Amino acid sequence: MIFFRYSLFLVLFLVSACTDSKDDSTMPLINENYALIPQPQYCDKKTDLFVINKDTRFLFSGKLAKEAAYFLKLIHLSSDFQLITVNELPEKPENIIILELEQSDKNDKSEQYQLSVDSEQIRIKSSSSTGIFRGIQTLRQMLPPEFHAKGKRKSWGVRGVLIKDFPAFKWRGLLFDCCRHFFSKKVVLKYIDLLAFYKMNTLHWHLTEDQGWRIAIDKYPELTRTGAWRKDKENSKYGGYYSKKDIKEIIAYAAERHINVVPEIELPGHSQAAIAAYPHLSCTGRQLEVGNKWGVFKDVYCAGNDSTFVFLEDVLNEVIELFPSQYIHIGGDECPKYRWEHCNKCQNRIKSENLKDEHELQSYFIKRIARFLESRNKTLIGWDEILEGGLAENAVVQSWRGMNGALEAADNSQFAIASPTSHAYFDYNLQAIDLAKVYQFNPIPSGLDPAKHRFILGGECNMWTEHVPDEDGLDNKVFPRLLAMSEVLWSDSVKRNYEDFYQRVQMHYPILDFMNVKYGAETVPVRLSAFTSTKSINIKLLKGAENLDLYYTLNDSLPSPSSSLYEGAIPLKKSATLKVLAFKNNKKYGSLFERKFSKHLANGLQPELSYSYSQNYTGGGDLAVTNGARGSLNFRDGNWQAVQKVPMQITIDLKSNKTISKLSAAFYQKQDSWIFLPPKVDFYYSVDGKKYTLINSVVNTISPEKGGEFIKEFSTNSNIVEAEFVRIIAHNITYCPNWHPAAGSEAWLFIDEFVVE
Ligand code: ACM
Ligand code: ZN
Repeated sequence: MIFFRYSLFLVLFLVSACTDSKDDSTMPLINENYALIPQPQYCDKKTDLFVINKDTRFLFSGKLAKEAAYFLKLIHLSSDFQLITVNELPEKPENIIILELEQSDKNDKSEQYQLSVDSEQIRIKSSSSTGIFRGIQTLRQMLPPEFHAKGKRKSWGVRGVLIKDFPAFKWRGLLFDCCRHFFSKKVVLKYIDLLAFYKMNTLHWHLTEDQGWRIAIDKYPELTRTGAWRKDKENSKYGGYYSKKDIKEIIAYAAERHINVVPEIELPGHSQAAIAAYPHLSCTGRQLEVGNKWGVFKDVYCAGNDSTFVFLEDVLNEVIELFPSQYIHIGGDECPKYRWEHCNKCQNRIKSENLKDEHELQSYFIKRIARFLESRNKTLIGWDEILEGGLAENAVVQSWRGMNGALEAADNSQFAIASPTSHAYFDYNLQAIDLAKVYQFNPIPSGLDPAKHRFILGGECNMWTEHVPDEDGLDNKVFPRLLAMSEVLWSDSVKRNYEDFYQRVQMHYPILDFMNVKYGAETVPVRLSAFTSTKSINIKLLKGAENLDLYYTLNDSLPSPSSSLYEGAIPLKKSATLKVLAFKNNKKYGSLFERKFSKHLANGLQPELSYSYSQNYTGGGDLAVTNGARGSLNFRDGNWQAVQKVPMQITIDLKSNKTISKLSAAFYQKQDSWIFLPPKVDFYYSVDGKKYTLINSVVNTISPEKGGEFIKEFSTNSNIVEAEFVRIIAHNITYCPNWHPAAGSEAWLFIDEFVVE
């Protein structure tokens, strides 16, 4: 049997290898090793071969005209022939492809299908047109990668199979934020195609934000005239929006692919672009600019002003007219209550409606909008904040701050969608969420009564685009992680096996290449492992995957396959910058890994810390401040150690008397993440470990208001001291200052290393 398979494989390999080079050959190109993602529920592979060529006939049930047109076009784009459409089953039903709609009620929304291939027929059968469409996607994945390159071939081969398939969850979505950065209609259409290919069924389209309003509304033209444009670098204008014609085209394209487009119109927060267009919508009525920084802003729709609701209902009326979706997403997340607390109209509303506080005012706001949507026969979806102060009846909760929102909603017998930051935030880097992590996602919250599982509609991956300015960046974030989400939401969790999935993902890369998807890495290619002792710094690297080669340099040049190959710990003789690049099959994999190392007198010594560092920013533990590894501009790189509110005092016993020329430490500032430089840093030495003498204090001269992210070193002057003990005290600004959007919240202090030279 093994011999038979092997020889068959060899013959087929030769067949496909020789046909591959000749486009005009009538020999079929066959994908012997196709990989299906998501994995079907049931799949029995056979050795039969069906050949699609100029003689292939095509039959479809009358109600499948749209799916048939889609399929015919798909085949025609990649072939130099067209299928011959027939109206009934021929007497000799061979070399025929059949799309068969089974009897069912007219409104069958199920996505189940059966695909059978033998040497005479390809048959896709379902009780719904959506099921037929999903089956076509499975067939697409069985064809060779070249099929997706739209090269005009004379024939294609498909191996025999019997697949019976249906999704585990009925809501399988991607949130696409087209506000933080604007993406053209072409990119949106490309993503609809990609979602369809992986059997996802929902495009959650984030259309309004602080930084841009992206949907044309006839009654309020300033929303796009003003609200779609923000001041960018050097006062240039950045933005864009979708006309109603664009939107109709996108919805129709999605409908052809059995994808529902759910619009998100954010309220009451994340609404600064709308307020910039119509200032009367806010509590203060002041003219604002469209937001051009990232974050959460305090100017939101006024909840006391009836004209706010008139505006929102007008907008939603036009949205409802455009979007056939049963569901309308209204955001509801991250709405600061500061303006409402200081607004007479909002306070009057709290009194007149007998509300307890601003949280109940938010709930009033959402419920009023929910009632309106209900009057238009639509269902409201909101982020999990809509649970606070009481959930509107029939509203669907999208859980993002963990899974508790989904648990609470489902417990209450209300529907929920799961997209927690832990597994589903594709804007996060691979350090936080890699392919394996997405694959571990379970949309069912743990602890949920099995009888209530049906209230979990499914899940979404959220693609926020603050840091994704273009299509390549988008591809890099979404792929290959989307493949894991697709399988989690469609396939049987009992059969889930990462190793097997990972191998199938490898087989999808040639397809994605042909589809012009600039996918990113699966995992962080390089991680730093153990390295420092009191005697030496030995840098150990961990590969993100077995099939990677790591090349490195210590001389500031960019690594390439002609640099040193990492084979074991790298001993560091002096301070240096390590640069590492991973290669997979000689192709660059992931981004450059770069770390500075400082060799100094305290390397590997146990520091005495006055503070308990945050478990989110440990720097790797106590030794973070003496291990030699310096922090990068990414404060989550694992080298920064941090505390909130309190100062940092670090004392090091050097074990013997040393001549010290300089003490220094680097700190980090990124004020919009509440991280500030220390206002002052004091350096001390001691001969006996009891009495400490101040060498000098360095006062910070950089304003806490300075934006962006940067590192500043603080150091002693040039006094040389003899000492056995050294100490640094870095003061903390303690609270975010009054001017800060998070005024009064506990400020962060970040240090990477206490350097003793
Ligand atoms: C969210 O990420 N603010 C829903
Ligand atoms: Zn107000």
